[in-house]
Amino acid sequence: MQRGSGDEMEYAVSLMTLADVDDVVEIEKQSFPIPWSRAAFVDELTRNERALYIVIREESGTMVGYGGMWLVCDEAHVTNIAVRSDRRRRGVGTAIMIGLMGLAQSKGANRMTLEVRVSNRSAQELYARLGFRSAGVRPRYYMDNREDALIMWLDGISGALGELCGRQDADAQ
Ligand SMILES: CC(C)(COP(=O)(O)OP(=O)(O)OC[C@H]1O[C@@H](n2cnc3c(N)ncnc32)[C@H](O)[C@@H]1OP(=O)(O)O)[C@@H](O)C(=O)NCCC(=O)NCCS
Repeated sequence: MQRGSGDEMEYAVSLMTLADVDDVVEIEKQSFPIPWSRAAFVDELTRNERALYIVIREESGTMVGYGGMWLVCDEAHVTNIAVRSDRRRRGVGTAIMIGLMGLAQSKGANRMTLEVRVSNRSAQELYARLGFRSAGVRPRYYMDNREDALIMWLDGISGALGELCGRQDADAQ
């Protein structure tokens, strides 16, 4: 487990376990038009050897967000990331992505990719601030409204993490 702090809170980052799934599903339902089911998360944790998921909890124990990815060769494919609706804009989403980037790097990945709805400008902004760049569109990717997905890539996870550390050190001085 790692500890850190966002703009207004102390939090703990840990690997997701089956004990986390009920809280995860609650946030999932708040966050997506077609939420993953409880069974889908259980499947990811118990049967998918390529899947890695993390959760973030406040000191009180309240889960405030989670994220996950599949590791394929030296690439990490982010599957989902969500923050509890009443805890957004406090740096939790950024902390989840940095947690996933660190974990991917520790497993030997150096590139990371994800899909995001073309209308989801807030998430795109978050990813861009971490170094992700747009790399094309998957037309009518989302089943609910046939919306296009923007494909984003981060090349060089190590370099991006180093730059973020440097920025945090500079902010602290
Ligand atoms: C996208 C999401 C994970 C962001 O989580 P978060 O904890 O609010 O993100 P952060 O506080 O770390 O935001 C980092 C930056 O992203 C951008 N951003 C995040 N939310 C934003 C919003 N609602 N409007 C505009 N910019 C936003 C800002 O640049 C922000 O920095 P700032 O607060 O200093 O301006 C969260 O809104 C969420 O769970 N949304 C629903 C699920 C979802 O869309 N997941 C992504 C699927 S691809």
